Amino acid sequence: MKLNNKNIILGVSGSIAAYKAPDIVHRLQDLGAKVRVILTQSGAKFITELSLQVASKNKVWHNLWDKEAELCMGHIELAKWADAILIAPASANTIADIALGKAHDLLNSVILASDCPILIAPAMNQLMYASDSVQTNLQTLSRRQIIIIAPKHGKQACGDVGKGRLAEPVSIAQKVGDIFQNTNLGGKKVLITLGATIEAIDPVRYLSNHSSGKMGSAIADACIEAGAQVTLVHSNITVELNQKAVAISAISAEKMYTAVMDNITQQDIFIACAAVSDYYIKNIAKNKIKKSAKPLTLELTPTKDILQAVCQLPQKPLCIGFAAETQNLLENARNKLKNKSCDAIILNDISKPNSGFKSDENTLIFLTPTNHIKIAKNSKQKLGRKIVEILSKNFYNIYKKPC
Ligand SMILES: Cc1cc2nc3c(=O)[nH]c(=O)nc-3n(C[C@H](O)[C@H](O)[C@H](O)COP(=O)(O)O)c2cc1C
Repeated sequence: MKLNNKNIILGVSGSIAAYKAPDIVHRLQDLGAKVRVILTQSGAKFITELSLQVASKNKVWHNLWDKEAELCMGHIELAKWADAILIAPASANTIADIALGKAHDLLNSVILASDCPILIAPAMNQLMYASDSVQTNLQTLSRRQIIIIAPKHGKQACGDVGKGRLAEPVSIAQKVGDIFQNTNLGGKKVLITLGATIEAIDPVRYLSNHSSGKMGSAIADACIEAGAQVTLVHSNITVELNQKAVAISAISAEKMYTAVMDNITQQDIFIACAAVSDYYIKNIAKNKIKKSAKPLTLELTPTKDILQAVCQLPQKPLCIGFAAETQNLLENARNKLKNKSCDAIILNDISKPNSGFKSDENTLIFLTPTNHIKIAKNSKQKLGRKIVEILSKNFYNIYKKPC
């Protein structure tokens, strides 16, 4: 289903069409979405909180000043939770508020605090809809990539006949579903490396790092959601991999190099997310090294650079690398982008607490030779989807299209 695993916020504003909101909730749920409703003060004049609570199987949010919401920052939490925000029906007043960037109530604050796709379905009297003010505001929103679901022509609650009736709930829900299918990764072949490589010292000990594979696995999930065929070359990981992916185990840097090179032809995209050891132990001891009072010297040899090798292939796929940095973040990431001739580097600031390795959250910067896009701290699942969205937009030239 188009909206499986998708979190949708439905904003219901003060239009006579608000009584259709429970139907919209159900149509979104039919497509697999989880729905949370934000009801404006005027919206509550047209539909009860209880009806929306029953339909969404969730409490209804309406209060910016809710003391029970986590640390009183409920609007930020809600904004982060959402994969898309739909305002249906959208009143002329709410449309004007969004165009002005106001943040006086919960709905407007959540919209400002979110970086997910936003859709609005206007519903109002035909003269209101045709007015210069409403049309100018809609054009402003359209320029900001907000998707406008055009109202229908017909008989209105006030008796007028014209354009202003809310679009059908089923087609509104379909439009929300469409934005997740418009990523254009459908049918693309994506190879992702993930996890921490392990370089043996002796039969017992090894060199490795703190990578868990969570970020790579989240990107894989997002690519699969977007319709891609995913191959995962993984070393040591602490996550379960998506069963729809082909999984290849490659524990050491050398094994990972071979597994990638054996599977890279025909791939459209290569995402090097694994934390690959830069060195391996030249002479692995056959038996466990015994403890002694003398210092022990291990000779380390540089491992093969997998990302560089793929970037140098005559028919290379789109190559995206990761740079986990603790200092001179942008400078180091830019150097990596240039030296390895890859198409983009995703910079991972691992110096921050509760971000990066092992953590469930991350803060990223998506760097291309001409652009850099900051991706605010969020769950790795959300970041995976954001990366797929950026990939689609920047390299496959299609994502949010006004309806
Ligand atoms: C009976 C009645 C019906 C209304 N219907 C609509 C409507 O369909 N569309 C609209 O844009 N405004 C409509 N309004 C006006 C809005 O409810 C009003 O502008 C309100 O401030 C909107 O607040 P909100 O955008 O914060 O929800 C209606 C008002 C009344 C009294």
